[in-house]
Amino acid sequence: MKFAFAFFIALFTFNTFSETRQELHEKAKKEFYNLHFFENGRGMTISPDLPKFLSLLTKSPANSHPNLMTPNQNIKGSLYKKIFQDRYGFNMIDNKILGVFEVPYKGMKIGVLGCTACHSGKAAGHIYPGLGNKTIDPYQVGADAKIIQTLWGKIPGRSKDFKQIHNASMKFVTTTANKKYANLTKGLVSDAVIKTFFYDDAGIPYDELARAQVKVPHLWGFVEKRKTGVFWGGEHDGSQTGWEFGAELFASHSPDHFRASLKKLEYVVQNVFGNFLPPTYPFHVDQKRASLGQILYKKNCYQCHGDHQRDAEGYPIYDRPKLVSHRKVQTDFDRLIIDEGLNEAYEASSVSDILKVKNYRDKGYIAPKLWGIWSRFPYLHNGSVPTLYHLMIEPAKRPEVFSMHDAGEAYRYDQTYGGLTLFNSSEQPNMLKKAKSGNRSLYYTKRIGHSSQGHYFDFMKSMTNEERMAVIEYLKTL
Ligand code: HEC
Ligand code: HEC
Repeated sequence: MKFAFAFFIALFTFNTFSETRQELHEKAKKEFYNLHFFENGRGMTISPDLPKFLSLLTKSPANSHPNLMTPNQNIKGSLYKKIFQDRYGFNMIDNKILGVFEVPYKGMKIGVLGCTACHSGKAAGHIYPGLGNKTIDPYQVGADAKIIQTLWGKIPGRSKDFKQIHNASMKFVTTTANKKYANLTKGLVSDAVIKTFFYDDAGIPYDELARAQVKVPHLWGFVEKRKTGVFWGGEHDGSQTGWEFGAELFASHSPDHFRASLKKLEYVVQNVFGNFLPPTYPFHVDQKRASLGQILYKKNCYQCHGDHQRDAEGYPIYDRPKLVSHRKVQTDFDRLIIDEGLNEAYEASSVSDILKVKNYRDKGYIAPKLWGIWSRFPYLHNGSVPTLYHLMIEPAKRPEVFSMHDAGEAYRYDQTYGGLTLFNSSEQPNMLKKAKSGNRSLYYTKRIGHSSQGHYFDFMKSMTNEERMAVIEYLKTL
């Protein structure tokens, strides 16, 4: 009797206190949306009090995201969408800008950028935590902020605290807006901008840097992924936490800020990223076709992309991905160029005790796990291939131009080919001409680092269209 009682207590406790992975995911999402690393005047900041002055942005009535910036209700209509969503590529959540905070500090209001500005994204009209933002345009944000902040900084009588934050944010926007290193297309982020931190910190001069423009990677499964290596090329050692802070380290330009944030970062990696689940495909899946696709996957894709097993409750079991040499995958090389002096700069920097690189003899790209792959378009590290279908046909037949405008909105999702529609009718006239003249919303594969070459293997030559469609159907189940 006593035993039975204890048993029931144990059962009860288990049911009450053990959270399902779905619950842990929801908790992680809430934490992530409210997360920023601003502390002691340091972080990814814009000039103090600027949001208040601009009056475009005002404090909103409290709701589920009390610390996020809200555009002034008077301009809520199409203007804020034009500025924040179309021009800068931020995602809006409950009329607020996801990833832009307003933090009080020493009597000032500081505009602070959070990781979610880049690391939460929209697909088929829904926002998902840990999905890369498909439309963020760091160059455009930096270029506009530079003009406004320069004027803002000229007002006399500023305090020492103001100047400290203002100067750091001027450096942040000036480098982000430097045309030599900046991203050329919205939705891509240039690693070159981050690299400048290491040169500056080590005191090594630099001039030409490979832009290394990449799409923002997904974060579910990262805890296992980092065992192979951090970032698309896997060449950054993930055995210690640290590289995850790259954008923040560059923005604050403060190794002290980095060291002060390490504990929190470790927590975020383990308990926030570690609990993220991939988004489930929101439309119908043809199960029969998907089973055929699974067989084709096992035969052709498994050797590089590996297993996608589920636990007893049906949740993904994450495991580490493989690194595939560039010789084999042959996608765009720009991301893998190690600029002259970069490794030297890493080693001479003041954070080299924490941030280490792996020196592979055979460089390449990680063949990522394909959980939630339906949402991760456009595909490859540089986002050069709009759909899953195009990834399985010969590179010469892949689209040369496609539009990134509203890439995450429902009307841009292509259920048949799995990914991004190429453009909408109003964009179509003169598209190639606009692309050639540098339009930032158009992805043009002839720009540097934008090539859609590679990831075309022998077996794909003999694949039938039916087989491609079956593989796409299977991928929707992941
Ligand atoms: C400006 C956009 C931007 C911001 C802001 C940003 N990141 Fe990233 N993040 C990126 C890009 C781009 C990469 C991929 C770089 C590469 O692989 O070359 C990346 C990579 C990562 C990775 C590695 C993923 C992988 O698959 O290896 C982690 C983890 C990460 N970021 C965490 C963070 C955290 C934590 C923050 C906030 C402190 C943050 N990021 C802020 C753009 C951003
Ligand atoms: C020889 C190894 C190899 C084979 C075989 C292979 N892949 Fe890949 N795959 C890679 C690598 C490496 C990458 C990353 C390349 C890059 O980002 O530049 C990749 C990237 C991808 C991506 C894009 C991921 C993202 O986040 O954008 C998808 C989707 C994909 N592969 C699907 C498949 C499918 C489906 C098959 C089988 C029909 C397949 N791959 C066969 C190595 C392989």
